[in-house]
Amino acid sequence: MSGAVVTPSGGAVKPLTRGGEVSPRPRRFTCVTSADRDPAPAPGLRAATGVFVCFEGGDGGGKSTQSRLLVERLEREGYDAVPTFEPGDTPVGRELRRIVLDPATGHLAARTEALLYVADKAEHVAEVVRPALDRGAVVVTDRYVDSTLAYQGAGRALGDAVAGLEHVARWATGDLRPHLTVVLDVRPGAGLARLTGRDRIEAESVEFHERVRAEFLALAAADPAHYLVVDATGTREEIAEAVWARVAPLLVQARQEAR
Ligand SMILES: Nc1ncnc2c1ncn2[C@@H]1O[C@H](COP(=O)(O)OP(=O)(O)OP(=O)(O)O)[C@@H](O)[C@H]1O
Ligand SMILES: [Mg+2]
Repeated sequence: MSGAVVTPSGGAVKPLTRGGEVSPRPRRFTCVTSADRDPAPAPGLRAATGVFVCFEGGDGGGKSTQSRLLVERLEREGYDAVPTFEPGDTPVGRELRRIVLDPATGHLAARTEALLYVADKAEHVAEVVRPALDRGAVVVTDRYVDSTLAYQGAGRALGDAVAGLEHVARWATGDLRPHLTVVLDVRPGAGLARLTGRDRIEAESVEFHERVRAEFLALAAADPAHYLVVDATGTREEIAEAVWARVAPLLVQARQEAR
């Protein structure tokens, strides 16, 4: 990548591993600037070791199902796969998750809710995502920054404050971005109908969930090189194949770059 800035991530870094094979040259985090990519500018940091895949989309779209299927396939193929999720995949995150999702919490100011989600992200990236990428693993997360932009930004209709929210969320995550984000696109009615119970966020209005869906699609449209939008009404197997078709080349590329 021409003009790239290399930012040391600290600590030992190992390359992508598969079936016990270890490539010799460790790589670190690379800053992809808007000048590097044409026609879709994609600022932010992408890990130069490991592969970072994220599932996003509305409630009941199949994120957890597809995350699991992808991790199972990666493991079958011999990759070091790390399944994870937001909010709540750290000890502190579990506390934050309880607060933001428990209907008993009741009303929270929109910015309070956003900051609780962002705190979970900071902890998640520091304790789970970056250490795994540093050792060359394939990290598969069920939700990430886009969910906060969609739910706490567009859903809560923060208006002009969305730019500030994005800034804080990027700061919290060190601007680390997935190599691929899969958006499982689902109409709010269809997704919510698949779910049995409703948490505090799922219980929001149809208009709220429509804004969330539109935001996910807008984020994907702005950076097609790093997004895959899949119609969530397909079968589990069809969706898993579409996801694998985009993930497999990333694995090959990561192994080649690690050489
Ligand atoms: N492609 C599919 N077709 C039909 N049903 C599906 C499909 N994928 C998942 N499901 C079912 O829909 C429900 C929701 O799926 P899942 O929990 O994976 O979605 P999710 O996006 O993780 O939901 P949430 O937003 O609540 O975390 C589950 O009962 C799951 O078995
Ligand atoms: Mg889920």
